Amino acid sequence: MADITSVLHETRVFPPSAEFAAKANVSGMAAYEALMNEAKSDYAGFWGRLARENISWHKLFSHVLDESGAPFYKWFDDGELNVSWNCLDKNIHAGKGDKTALIFEADDGTVTTSTYNDLLKRVGKFANALKSLGVTKGDRVIIYMPMSIEAVVSMQACARIGAIHSVVFGGFSAKSLQERIIDAGAKVVVTADESMRGGKAVPLKAAVDEAIGLGGCNSLEKVVVYKRSGGAVNMASGRDVWWHEATASQPDECEPVWVNAEHPLFILYTSGSTGKPKGVQHSTGGYLLGALLSMKWVFDAKPETDVYWCTADVGWITGHTYVAYGPLAMGMTEVIFEGIPTYPHAGRFWEMIQKHKVTTFYTAPTAIRSLIKLGADLPAKFDLSSLRLLGTVGEPINPEAWMWYHEHIGQNRCPIVDTWWQTETGSNMISPLPGAVPTKPGSCTLPLPGIMVGVVDEAGHDVEKGHGGFLVIKRPFPSQLRTLWGDPERFRKTYFPEELGGKMYLAGDSTHQDADGYYWIMGRIDDVLNVSGHRLGTMEIESALVSNPRVAEAAVVGKPHDIKGEAVVAFVVCKGARPEGDEAKKLVAELREWVGKEIGPIAKPDDIRFGDNLPKTRSGKIMRRLLRAIAKGEEITQDVSTLENPAILEQLKQAVV
Ligand code: PRX
Repeated sequence: MADITSVLHETRVFPPSAEFAAKANVSGMAAYEALMNEAKSDYAGFWGRLARENISWHKLFSHVLDESGAPFYKWFDDGELNVSWNCLDKNIHAGKGDKTALIFEADDGTVTTSTYNDLLKRVGKFANALKSLGVTKGDRVIIYMPMSIEAVVSMQACARIGAIHSVVFGGFSAKSLQERIIDAGAKVVVTADESMRGGKAVPLKAAVDEAIGLGGCNSLEKVVVYKRSGGAVNMASGRDVWWHEATASQPDECEPVWVNAEHPLFILYTSGSTGKPKGVQHSTGGYLLGALLSMKWVFDAKPETDVYWCTADVGWITGHTYVAYGPLAMGMTEVIFEGIPTYPHAGRFWEMIQKHKVTTFYTAPTAIRSLIKLGADLPAKFDLSSLRLLGTVGEPINPEAWMWYHEHIGQNRCPIVDTWWQTETGSNMISPLPGAVPTKPGSCTLPLPGIMVGVVDEAGHDVEKGHGGFLVIKRPFPSQLRTLWGDPERFRKTYFPEELGGKMYLAGDSTHQDADGYYWIMGRIDDVLNVSGHRLGTMEIESALVSNPRVAEAAVVGKPHDIKGEAVVAFVVCKGARPEGDEAKKLVAELREWVGKEIGPIAKPDDIRFGDNLPKTRSGKIMRRLLRAIAKGEEITQDVSTLENPAILEQLKQAVV
């Protein structure tokens, strides 16, 4: 790890303003440290106290953490609860029934709202509809929906009856959807006719039909279709039902199914370094606790006065924890948005902040960077004075983008929470608590109370401050994944490797701590790209390329990209002669489309190059480091003497233009 050196030398520090700190849920460093010390001195006592204080239990747990089956940890495991009850009924019983829960803004600007009372009714109706379709506790339901109130309702309805949802991002292809239906053994798919993004209709139901047409979806019994656009769709009789018909005669009351705290709430597929996506399985009790505490600590939730907006799609973990569950469990009013930041104009985000008087805004560095390009005069046209807190997630934010966000959006007034976490961790792990921890642009700062982060070398030994190493979490924590769906061995090997002692959670990122103990994330340690804040396994893209009849072999690497963070670059060896000129251009276009269809548009390579072969060591390993240098257009300074076929490099340096 010694060669992972940081090139960033950032010295600016922004302490919370006295005004912000005075009202903050965790006010001042001493309060943060007191929580951390409580966790250190009595770990189980700390989490047990917080779980009792923050969650409404149907049956209170009698013990907190069971480590006997490590790394298959159990939390609060004889406790019983229901997440939907904690998000809806609990707030209604507290007198918030008429409070707006969701403010939905559609792609075309139409706004629809739903109060807690209304949302509970919708959830009850849909939960009853799912039951009438044969869904019971533990069954898997795939949700392939546009951002909508109905998407949140679908998730909450599953939670209400103990069904396990698996949301598949609407930008994923039919092929990806099919794989997830099969892997999860889903009984029902919930989808919409089309989703509307940037004025264009994106067919969802047609993709579901195509996925089923690919074969193998033997567990699937029903497809529920929400009418979003009114676009034409085929309805297979006996299998497909309209949302409005399935719910029409259902009562709007549905008793929650009380489940054990360890009952799986959902599965969410994410990329790993090998071909098959990983079905990250989350729990009920521990997950909900992570969502609630981070809403309080990191987002400094003030349910009475905040209007909270997280721009993530429900297809990603951020859209689970910080759209569908956390804000509702806190009784917040939140904005959800169907569209894209640049339609019908590039000031859409800022206009929406003004329109809905948003106080808390949480988005991804990739979105910030794309808006920076368009200039600071855009946000200046809107009244952003309602904002009090900003957040970012998904990839490291470069200090300059952080400063722009701070000056032009936060108007030098709002703290920025740079939240480091993952699909697997379920909730924020490292982030400033905005009324306590001074921020530094580009650093996610310090762990949340109770999260025991460390930096270790390959043997699991701590590395000194200032040196790069693997980011690990040394103690189990409530919101962590419980296993990989159907593959406990892969779970153990990936996250709790024997080399590190088998008990530390290995995040897969490299990091270092500065002299103040602040964490600076340096990137992934495996072959996983981060494109626009989304994790893409290079293996998956390579497999997609190789499944094209023209392709013999492919290697995929990332290269830095101004807006997307990383762009996909593919090196391809064709069957037969290496394509050149117009033929090469045509094949590039064809392969881009192919990857788009196999995985989804976000995985399309920006750059595809052809060679007669790939650079390999004599033992046959593809030299990815070399490919990364070529992709970046760097001079090759490394030793190529072990390379089997050095002449290949000249071919691969040639971009197809
Ligand atoms: O590499 C880290 C990066 O995103 C990865 C997790 O990706 P995913 O599971 O898709 O979840 C994204 C949303 C939680 C991490 O391993 N990452 C996420 N947040 C940050 C980050 N890198 C640096 N700073 C962050 N704040």
